Amino acid sequence: MMQLGVCYYPEHWAESMWAEDAAEMKSLGLSLVRIGEFSWNKLEPKEGTFDFSWLDKVINVLDNAGLKVILGTPSATPPRWILEKFPDLLAYDEQSQPRGFGSRRHYCFSHKGYKLLSGQMASRLSKRYGDHSALYAWQVDNEYGCHDTIRSYSPLAKIAFQNWLSEKYKSITELNRRWGNVFWSMEYDDFGQIDLPNLTVTEPNPSHKMDFYRFSSDQVISWNQVQLKAIRSHSDRPIFHNYMGRITEFDHFKLGEPMEIATWDSYPLGFLEDRSDRSESFKHKYQYTGDPDFQAFHHDLYRGVGKGRWGIMEQQPGPVNWAPYNPEPAPGMVRIWTLEAMAHGAEFVAYFRWRQLPFAQEQMHSALKRSDNRPSEVLKEIHLLRKDINKYSSVQKRKAPVALIFDYESQWAWEVQPQGKDFDYFRLVYDLYCCLRKLGLDIDILPPNGKLLNNYSFILIPGLFSISNELSQALSSYKGEILLGPRTDTKTEDFYIHSDSVSKLMQLPIKLDQVETLRPSETRNIEGVGTFHTWIEKLKVQDEFVPPLIHNQNKTYIGGWPDEKTFISILYTCLDRAGLQPQLQEEGVRLQNGFVIDYEKVSFELLK
Ligand code: GAL
Repeated sequence: MMQLGVCYYPEHWAESMWAEDAAEMKSLGLSLVRIGEFSWNKLEPKEGTFDFSWLDKVINVLDNAGLKVILGTPSATPPRWILEKFPDLLAYDEQSQPRGFGSRRHYCFSHKGYKLLSGQMASRLSKRYGDHSALYAWQVDNEYGCHDTIRSYSPLAKIAFQNWLSEKYKSITELNRRWGNVFWSMEYDDFGQIDLPNLTVTEPNPSHKMDFYRFSSDQVISWNQVQLKAIRSHSDRPIFHNYMGRITEFDHFKLGEPMEIATWDSYPLGFLEDRSDRSESFKHKYQYTGDPDFQAFHHDLYRGVGKGRWGIMEQQPGPVNWAPYNPEPAPGMVRIWTLEAMAHGAEFVAYFRWRQLPFAQEQMHSALKRSDNRPSEVLKEIHLLRKDINKYSSVQKRKAPVALIFDYESQWAWEVQPQGKDFDYFRLVYDLYCCLRKLGLDIDILPPNGKLLNNYSFILIPGLFSISNELSQALSSYKGEILLGPRTDTKTEDFYIHSDSVSKLMQLPIKLDQVETLRPSETRNIEGVGTFHTWIEKLKVQDEFVPPLIHNQNKTYIGGWPDEKTFISILYTCLDRAGLQPQLQEEGVRLQNGFVIDYEKVSFELLK
């Protein structure tokens, strides 16, 4: 049965409040409490001077109340003394300026000394608490990528990048050849001459930038692994990281691979205001409920990252403090978001945070309790949830019939070379996801490695930069329906044009002749196909242009970015061939695992 939890910062409150807080959490029906993730300075106020006594007490208080603990490693907030110890610790922004101390996430992933120190802290925590009966799981660090912190342009990152390149290419001649450095006389004589791809006069070589993006993702993965190893040497409890909404600068599938669970932090109203491409009228309409698909997309994505086990580590409980506008969720909405996560298979949902703080950066962020300890309105909804969860606990998990492939490298590739300002990979995949949801389908999101395809009747592969050999092989033996394009497999891994892309994918003598990108005010109607925007491919068979919608055996290729109506009509045809029965849902209504979630009526029920 899905559990409920909360994020708690005992270090902000008097010790005399802890036991009462814990009792209250328990009586609310919460069972998990996350603590510790920003508390380095409390644990080690001076280098080598440790104080775990307060954490010992907190864990015992929570344990005595019958609560389980999720313990966070505190590496997202290196205290000031660590900066004194490592003056080169800071990450640098794209203008090559250091990012200062005074908030959080100021460290550079390429700093070896801090990486080691974080591993040692994780190891100390694990040694002390790793087999505590109250310990449910570990969280490593906090929200990689939050505040734009994956790509650092620091002097240390430059050296690490040069080493990474030398590992990858072995010889500088090979790098020059594969990057195509003969263009503009960009050849290097030595790996030590290669700068980071910022501050160039005009755009840098796309291969250079792409490799920097790959390197930056690898740095996070290797950073995370140090703490994983440290924790594992003393503890057998599950480990996870708390991912975010629409953060694509590192490969979550690769980072998540060695961890048992994936979690993410869901702030539906904050995300709608802060990181959505939706129109103003859409935002207006859903300002109190959130986008009906955004949460679902990330539930499905992180379920894939977690290989089935996933949860919400931070759920928005009321207005946040960080979006341009911070409305209050519609009455009942926090309950609906929680139940929606359950419908997608969440193992737990935890609210951020227990009590609103009267000081510092997040003092305007709501919580389950107000800063003077009065209960927030939302507690009434949370009270109801135990009963709801009980009631639905016997509903069996259904198998999703459709899988959508999502690839972080493709996001980087089309950021490096969008060709048209509005070509955004996330948005393309998300558009298709939303259309599938409007058709009432459950969806799994998979990495591009070709595994598990045979579990589905229909696979969608939009905009995948380069199809690997493993995926290509898996696709050749796959019997279900496949939807490809636009822009799928149009480059080699080295960022060269792949001139056989469409003909190879479709096994037809079709050439991609030219691509065209359109300004936002422009659309193109193509007879018999529908309306396209943003991106159009000119496809040719011998000397004849053909419409950008091609079908052969079990494959369909779309050579452009269709509007919603066109996407839906193409999907109807594919789904019909796949033997699936789509059902167009009413505005704001979504289905998941046999539940109906209505974002307009703010309701959740079992499908009759
Ligand atoms: C998350 C973060 C939390 C807190 C929260 C506020 O992104 O993990 O520490 O800052 O946002 O909404």
